[in-house]
Amino acid sequence: MRYQLIGNHPSIIKIRELITMVSDMALNVLLLGETGTGKEVVARMLHQISTRRNERFVKINCAAMPLTLLESELFGYEKGAFTGAVKSKPGRFELASEGVMLLDEIGDMPLMLQAKLLNVLQSGEFSRLGGTEDVKVNSWVISATNHDLNEDMKNGLFREDLYYRLNIIKIELPPLRERRQDIPLLVEYFTQRHKQELKIDTNVPINTGLQDLFQDYHWPGNVRELSSTILRLMVGDDPGKIKDEFLRNMEGDGLDVPSAYARKAPALKQKSHDKTDEKQESIPSLKELKKEATQYIERKAIQYALHSAGWNKSQAAKILKISYKALFYKMDMLGIEKQR
Ligand SMILES: Nc1ncnc2c1ncn2[C@@H]1O[C@H](COP(=O)(O)OP(=O)(O)OP(=O)(O)O)[C@@H](O)[C@H]1O
Ligand SMILES: [Mg+2]
Repeated sequence: MRYQLIGNHPSIIKIRELITMVSDMALNVLLLGETGTGKEVVARMLHQISTRRNERFVKINCAAMPLTLLESELFGYEKGAFTGAVKSKPGRFELASEGVMLLDEIGDMPLMLQAKLLNVLQSGEFSRLGGTEDVKVNSWVISATNHDLNEDMKNGLFREDLYYRLNIIKIELPPLRERRQDIPLLVEYFTQRHKQELKIDTNVPINTGLQDLFQDYHWPGNVRELSSTILRLMVGDDPGKIKDEFLRNMEGDGLDVPSAYARKAPALKQKSHDKTDEKQESIPSLKELKKEATQYIERKAIQYALHSAGWNKSQAAKILKISYKALFYKMDMLGIEKQR
């Protein structure tokens, strides 16, 4: 399979350029970004176009297993190293020795293993659990996470020295809501991709209402969510149901549902165009006024909290008693940015 990073947003163009530039250097790459933004796509593209393309691409999810298992998976073990180790097994680092090692969800790696990993990165060698011989490795280490590692470092959850080792080249994947102009292109891409994969020839029933909502929705699951939404539409899921789900998600994440959706529904029902209607249309509805007032108050409260917290978002979220994620979305929706 050929991996592609679709998009014409300047940030995506830059990332594609960076991928071509660094792919032959085998410098450690750190991929940052929310879930579903394409971190693994970038890792696989790096592998695919590099001189290591014929070597293995080995991935390990650091969040998916307990410490001891993760350690033995990464570094392997010798027979008898622990109960149940009936024969020796190479670790994934060894398997990826001349290839690429993707440390996925690196932000979830326990501190104890972070120390060991740092050691391996510094020395290029380690020994299997229960082993005495040194194993030399030359893997190209790419790590990925959706954590805010700066926050994790401040809170003592991530080692700073490891961060600098992993972060020789940093690639930050933007959330989909920050590059909405790419949505139509991605819709087209996933329609074609799903058609090929499913060997079907259905066109996606995206009406204008849904198309507009695609532009307004905050896409918490990013490109992955867009891909699965297209798939759902292709296999016949009701577009109305999807629309309701999106609006509910927005409300659930503390976002205001764009008034267009609230206004459009009655407009469809009633098409009379007498003068009283026109007059009434120019006066904002109580609902719109309420929304404006709420946004005003929210903006003030968020700005105040951010200011009090010295622009530390986790702390500001605590002051506001909302989740970090909700604060992030609200800042995005209200267009709140730190003034330089
Ligand atoms: N720019 C893009 N172009 C094409 N496909 C993309 C793009 N971004 C993401 N995808 C697709 O979206 C899905 C999720 O991407 P990926 O697995 O790379 O996300 P991720 O950032 O690693 O997410 P997570 O943090 O949840 O692991 C995949 O099916 C991938 O092919
Ligand atoms: Mg991933």
